[in-house]
Amino acid sequence: MLRPLEFQSDPRLLVGLQTSDDAAVYLIDEGLALVQTLDFFPPVVDDPYTYGAIAAANALSDVYAMGGEPFLALNIAAWPSDLPLDMLTEVFRGGLEKAREASVVIAGGHTVTDDEPKYGLVVTGRVDPRRILTKAAARPGELVYLTKPIGTGAITTALKAGVAEPEHVEQAIAWMLRLNRTASQLLVAHGILACTDVTGFGLAGHASEMALKSGVRLVIAARAVPVIDGAEQYARAGRLPGGAQRNRAFYAEGPEAVVRRSRGIPTVLWDLLFDPVTSGGLLFTAAADGAPQLEQAFRQAGEPLWRIGFVDEGSGVDVVAELPG
Ligand code: CO
Ligand code: CO
Ligand code: CO
Repeated sequence: MLRPLEFQSDPRLLVGLQTSDDAAVYLIDEGLALVQTLDFFPPVVDDPYTYGAIAAANALSDVYAMGGEPFLALNIAAWPSDLPLDMLTEVFRGGLEKAREASVVIAGGHTVTDDEPKYGLVVTGRVDPRRILTKAAARPGELVYLTKPIGTGAITTALKAGVAEPEHVEQAIAWMLRLNRTASQLLVAHGILACTDVTGFGLAGHASEMALKSGVRLVIAARAVPVIDGAEQYARAGRLPGGAQRNRAFYAEGPEAVVRRSRGIPTVLWDLLFDPVTSGGLLFTAAADGAPQLEQAFRQAGEPLWRIGFVDEGSGVDVVAELPG
């Protein structure tokens, strides 16, 4: 819906609508660029504090996905007039404490009245303009990695239906609360250039964005993709959010379909690849020769990491059952 609009171009806008990445990047001087992003959404869990903290972690993630260090943020909120205001205070408290964990200052914000609660952050970060991580830098021969398991859509959908087991919800919440900060710092330190974060389009959708912008083909091994406990059983029972079906229709079935399914992939895994993720992990590619050092650095930092595929020539995403070799 943005296509009919004419946006100003500016040589200092290093990453903007034309390149459409996780966040906009604006050059200040040779060694410094600003990363700017905004993200907000309705509650994904019942507890207002946890919801606020998840929304903040999710908003900060787009700066980390660009290789940036967030430092300043503003609240954006919508709140129904018939819900208690002290609940909104708890949402803000969750956001505030998550921002504090990330060494980010929340400097104010704006709230409007609306029928459905919504909360998120406008986030400003800094990045070295020579080390910006984008979706457009994946190269054939590289390996594909993911830093968090998928499945939050299935689990939060089961939660809303009242059928989710508490330990599954706890795990999903822990992953959604987890900052992508350390992972991002490790990528920048190891000279990685191709990265995005996994959110609403699902893993397959974000992988195809990366393939498209980079002009390459991503091969993803379905059985190598980490899935949060419980997500498979809820997906099998049809507990997937509406977005999962829309993502699958758009990326794998429609006229612009770019995600292809090989034989031997269980339908439940296939479906989960399109499950919208809240506050998901970083999806990135790395040259094979530097991979052992990178994997070692993640292990030493206690940061989770899964190798889920590789980059090849071509276009789109091929989902295969297993990684070769
Ligand atoms: Co993003
Ligand atoms: Co975003
Ligand atoms: Co105002």
